[in-house]
Amino acid sequence: MPERTDFAERYASGKTPWDSGTPSEELLRVLNDGKLTGSTVLDFGCGTGTNAIELARRGFRVTATDIVPQAIQIAHDKARTAAVTVDFRVANTLRDNPGGPYDILFDRGVYHCLRTEDLKAFREFLRRATRTGSWWLSLAGNSKEDTEPGPPVVSEQQIRDELEPLFDIVELREFRFSTNQSDFRPLGWSILMRRK
Ligand SMILES: C[S@@+](CC[C@H](N)C(=O)[O-])C[C@H]1O[C@@H](n2cnc3c(N)ncnc32)[C@H](O)[C@@H]1O
Repeated sequence: MPERTDFAERYASGKTPWDSGTPSEELLRVLNDGKLTGSTVLDFGCGTGTNAIELARRGFRVTATDIVPQAIQIAHDKARTAAVTVDFRVANTLRDNPGGPYDILFDRGVYHCLRTEDLKAFREFLRRATRTGSWWLSLAGNSKEDTEPGPPVVSEQQIRDELEPLFDIVELREFRFSTNQSDFRPLGWSILMRRK
């Protein structure tokens, strides 16, 4: 079992390599393909809100949650500066009512953490936050490249076993995460799914 990350400590000490400060290139690619149809989005585990703000800038009605109050405070400040509206909330994805159901779920680096923390509670969250036809784009660490430091990783078989009971996998492709260090680009899975 991988060690659980203390995210509050990581934000307090600034050890947040995932916080690149620019919208995810992979999210932008999928958005530009026009596949994410609908108007409401939940970005769960949104961190400091960069992607949630980008989604709001593109006209989506965005709810974005994170378990760490410091991350949500920074996200609020960034949204105010960007003059966009995002419903940012401090919430635990595994316990709190997610609202919704949403047209689109997005996570960057959260499924790959929560699957080992409590897969049953995570799947219950997915069931409640979506309805038939809802989209989910998940960006997760890829077990073909398990590095330290690096994100938690998951294999294609684990993705299929854990998520296919609830979702059709529309596209499963490899990509590289950008981080706040230009030479650190861990291999990821981009998993585009549609709720059965
Ligand atoms: C790898 S970071 C990615 C943050 C953000 N999605 C991004 O791309 O910058 C994972 C995020 O999930 C949040 N998180 C971890 N467990 C959570 C939980 N149970 N509920 C809500 N957020 C959680 C962490 O605080 C952290 O911000």
